[in-house]
Parts: sequence; C-alpha cells; structure tokens
Amino acid sequence: MDHHDSHIDDSPIDDAYAAAEAEHLAGRSLTAADADGDDRAVEAALRPRTLDEVVGQERVREQLSLVLEAARGRGRAPDHVLLSGPPGLGKTTLAMIIAAEVGSPLRLTSGPAITHAGDLAAILSGLHEGDVLFVDEIHRMSRPAEEMLYVAMEDFRVDVVIGKGPGATAIPLELPPFTLVGATTRAGLLPGPLRDRFGFTGHLEFYETADLERIVRRSAALLEVELTDEGAGEIASRSRGTPRIANRLLRRVRDYAQVRADGVVTHPIARAALELYEVDESGLDRLDRAVLDALCRRFGGGPVGVSTLAVAVGEERETVEEVAEPFLVRTGLLARTPRGRVATPAAWTHLGLAVPADAAFQGGATLFDLDDQPSAESGTGPEAD
Ligand SMILES: Nc1ncnc2c1ncn2[C@@H]1O[C@H](COP(=O)(O)OP(=O)(O)OP(=O)(O)O)[C@@H](O)[C@H]1O
Ligand SMILES: [Mg+2]
Repeated sequence: MDHHDSHIDDSPIDDAYAAAEAEHLAGRSLTAADADGDDRAVEAALRPRTLDEVVGQERVREQLSLVLEAARGRGRAPDHVLLSGPPGLGKTTLAMIIAAEVGSPLRLTSGPAITHAGDLAAILSGLHEGDVLFVDEIHRMSRPAEEMLYVAMEDFRVDVVIGKGPGATAIPLELPPFTLVGATTRAGLLPGPLRDRFGFTGHLEFYETADLERIVRRSAALLEVELTDEGAGEIASRSRGTPRIANRLLRRVRDYAQVRADGVVTHPIARAALELYEVDESGLDRLDRAVLDALCRRFGGGPVGVSTLAVAVGEERETVEEVAEPFLVRTGLLARTPRGRVATPAAWTHLGLAVPADAAFQGGATLFDLDDQPSAESGTGPEAD
C-alpha cells in the first residue's frame, strides 16, 4: 500500500466526526458552551489564525509559542500537545494555529470516530512527515486504539494486524515524525499512560471579562457589526467566561439591534436584547434560574436529589446535571453534596430572596463533604433521591 495516497480529509472518518458533533445539537440554549451548527458556520470566520491573534490565555500562549519556536529551531516536528479545558475556550482554535505555525495541513479526527484500532491505523499510516494530527475528544477513543496510539506517539510505529484469529500477524510500519494534538474537555478521564506521552499540556481557563470584551470587539469588527465599548462590555459580562458564548450572544444582540434599532449595539440595546433572550446579568439562562428557583422556593434550599430537582423543572436529570449545574456550581450558587443539591446564600440573593436562617448551606464544607464531581454520585452514590 502506498500510504501517501490516503487522505483523511475525504475518508468516512470525517463523516463519523460530523455525526459525533451533530450529537451535541439536541437541547440548545443560548448559553450552551458547546457548538451548534450555526456556531460552526460562523466560528470558522471568527477563529484567530495566529498565536498573536489569540486573546487572553497568556500562559498557554507563551508556553505553546516556546514549544513551537524551539521545535522550529531544531528543524523538528514539535512534541505532542494536549489541550484541555471546558468547551468553547479555544482548543480547536489552538490546534489549527499549531498546524498553521508548523506550516502543515491539519489532519482532523475525533475520539468517538475511532471505534476500532483499524480506524486509527488507517489515519496514522496516511500521515506525512511533519503533519499535525488533531484528535478531538481524545478521551472517548476506544481502548485498543488508545494502545496503538501509545506506540505511535512514542516510537512512531504502528503494528498493522493482517488476518484474524490465531493466524493473524502484526506487521510493524514505520511512521514519519508527526505531531499529535489532542483535545479533551475531561483531562481526568485520560489514562495516565496516554497523558504522559504528551510533551506539553495546555490547560485553558475561563476568560476574564476584559478578555471577552476584546473578543467581542474583534468579532464585531469581523462581522461588520457596529458596537460601543459599553455594548461589548455588557455582552462580555454575560458570556460565562466563554468566547463561543460571547460570539453567539453578539450575533443575537446584532439581530435585535438591526430589527428594533439602527443596527448599532449600544449598552441599552445589548441589555434589552439579552433580557429578551432571557440571559441574565450573571449569564444565567432560563433553565439555570428555574433550577435555582425550584431549589430555593420548593425545596427550601435543599439538600435535594438531582432527579427530584429535574422533575420539578420538567427536564431530564442529565440536562440538569450536565447543562445547568456546572455553571451554577462554578459561580458558587449551587453546591453538590453527597446528600443532594444545596443552594448557597448567593443563590437566595440572586433570586432576590432573603437567606433563611435555617438554610442547609452554612457557607462552608463543614456541614457536608462538598463534591462537585458528578461522576462520583451518579449511579450508586449515597445521595437520597
Ligand atoms: N482566545 C480566543 N480569542 C478569540 N476568539 C476565541 C478564542 N478562543 C476561542 N475563540 C472563539 O470561540 C470559538 C470556539 O472556540 P473553539 O472551537 O476553539 O473551542 P473548543 O475549545 O475547541 O470547544 P469544544 O470543546 O466545544 O470543541 C472559536 O470559533 C473562536 O471564534
Ligand atoms: Mg473544539
């Protein structure tokens, strides 16, 4: 086989990748951090193309630029890079920038698309020297593929198995030096041996409002939307520290400005638009507020089991757990405890209610063992439901 003939770009793996992405499309909300089809269409135009264009993430940017520059100086492919962090903070963007800085095309696939080791073998054997292979959601790759990847990353070799059963033989195939860029929203789910094979891991953090404001202004310029600094500030402060959400809110506010005003996104226009779309001043949406409201008004601040809470707001347990709660926990409005969900004093205040004297959450971890890992209490957890 002349492996230089196979291009990942037109392989069925990309269809699987698209399908995996389409999975995310259910249950949209303006403040969902993952991308919908609309986002993907616009994001291509809004993505920074070089490290210099990337706003914020100073630390990762500096670390990454050192890794790339040193590799360039040595005339070698850069070390494998792992990018971890919540959705919408720029992992894919950075992967594309790495490829651009290296001057190679980006080969793109994702963990869920690699269901068999053979899928990965096909991808790896099609790589050319210096290629950048991007594996999105790398924590969702199958175990046999993962083991094949260890060897490929370390020894630039892949063992292609020919035949089945006892007669099967493994033929080692040398790979040209390449750079693997893995992205994951769940670095904790990555097996140690895989994590250890990356030469550099960049952790993306949520953005400061000032950085988001710069991102909104940059996007507005690219989309030819006229906006004032105060308008940008209002959008930024409701974007949950996430550029993808900032860009999405900008588009909705632009619609409002265009239809209800003269097209300019001013402070009052931004406020009115975001109120219409039910994104409040802290970036909470309708579901987030419904969860808080049920927790405080119906269950006296908890503790209450997540399933009960989900029924109260008419949603699936998973939706409450995976869509609403992470941000509520992050902003300190809700705590996950072994006995159930608990409202913090800030939650009562956020709803404009007085904090009851007998509220379950007394502002510390003394009353319950605080635990914000959903996995720890899914299934057989001790939580009363
Ligand atoms: N530092 C940044 N500066 C400017 N824009 C950014 C930055 N980071 C992200 N963005 C914008 O946010 C959008 C989402 O970023 P990206 O697709 O890279 O996120 P991601 O981390 O890969 O998310 P996911 O986990 O869902 O794959 C990009 O299209 C880009 O426009
Ligand atoms: Mg991505």
